[in-house]
Amino acid sequence: MLETVVNQSVPLPVNSKMLVLGGGFSGQHIASVTKALGGNVLCSRRDSKSVGADFSFNSKSDQIPSINILEGVTHLISCIPPNQDGKDPVIEKLKKEIKNMPISWIGYLSTTGVYGDSKGEWVNEQTIPKPKQLRSKNRLACEQEWLELGLPVQILRLPGIYGPGRSALESIVKGKYKLVDKPGQVFSRIHIDDIAGAIMHLIDLASKGKMPKIINIADNLPTNNIEVLEHAASLINYKLPAIESYKIASQKMSPMALSFWQENRRISNQLLCKSLNYSLIHNDYKLGLKDCLSQLNEN
Ligand SMILES: NC(=O)c1ccc[n+]([C@@H]2O[C@H](COP(=O)([O-])OP(=O)(O)OC[C@H]3O[C@@H](n4cnc5c(N)ncnc54)[C@H](OP(=O)(O)O)[C@@H]3O)[C@@H](O)[C@H]2O)c1
Repeated sequence: MLETVVNQSVPLPVNSKMLVLGGGFSGQHIASVTKALGGNVLCSRRDSKSVGADFSFNSKSDQIPSINILEGVTHLISCIPPNQDGKDPVIEKLKKEIKNMPISWIGYLSTTGVYGDSKGEWVNEQTIPKPKQLRSKNRLACEQEWLELGLPVQILRLPGIYGPGRSALESIVKGKYKLVDKPGQVFSRIHIDDIAGAIMHLIDLASKGKMPKIINIADNLPTNNIEVLEHAASLINYKLPAIESYKIASQKMSPMALSFWQENRRISNQLLCKSLNYSLIHNDYKLGLKDCLSQLNEN
């Protein structure tokens, strides 16, 4: 819940200006938290008429944001995924402008897909990435593009993102889920409150000179999908159909879905939550789904 993030967060340093590039699911929440803390923040979407858009930015058009949007930016967050050609859309279009900003902190939202398949073992920031999928290889290359700018950049590696409006509850209601049994398979996840909360925490630490380059932002409990769906179904009194074996279900999966099921890893948050002292708002999917349900009921 936005208020919970706001209550545990420190506002941006005075005279800061934050740009959120890509105000989709996570970007809008980060911008809302920053705004609620009294921060000066502007958020882009491809269409300036979309919800949450303060200005438009589309890397596929020739237009770049105007000077009054870009000038004086001290904090920048990119939530925009790689282009189809694997390049980073923001660096491709705005590299020169970013280099001219009085920047103190840049956050790049990446994915834990860069680690590849650890066969269910824990992976942390020291683990050497071994991306298997082309999209994850592209992502790792984009991380590198950001790091090579020579600016204060933090790479934030995220597992499956969920939150109010995009959770197992909605998947069940819309019938967009698969109850698949693959023994030993787990997925890590993160609630958008903790993406925004961790970012505010990391910005505060960076202002005090503590800024590791790569951070995993994940909750404490990698879990198999059946447990999550069964818990979500119990919250809304929904009866789930029979569980299918992976062997059968995988024959009907799209190549994209299949690629997720072919990788199995547990994402460690020790750096963020132990060494850097971030306190998770939603420790696990049960607390996270409780929040999603309460907001669903409110709306
Ligand atoms: N979803 C997950 O489970 C997950 C997991 C790990 C990492 N990630 C990554 O984390 C980041 C944030 O995820 P999210 O789920 O919050 O993303 P999202 O809701 O899909 O938002 C992506 C944002 O990028 C913008 N965008 C896309 N292509 C663009 C382009 N060519 N030029 C300018 N803007 C462009 C979109 O514009 P519009 O607002 O106009 O659509 C949107 O604002 C993404 O990079 C995503 O790949 C996602």
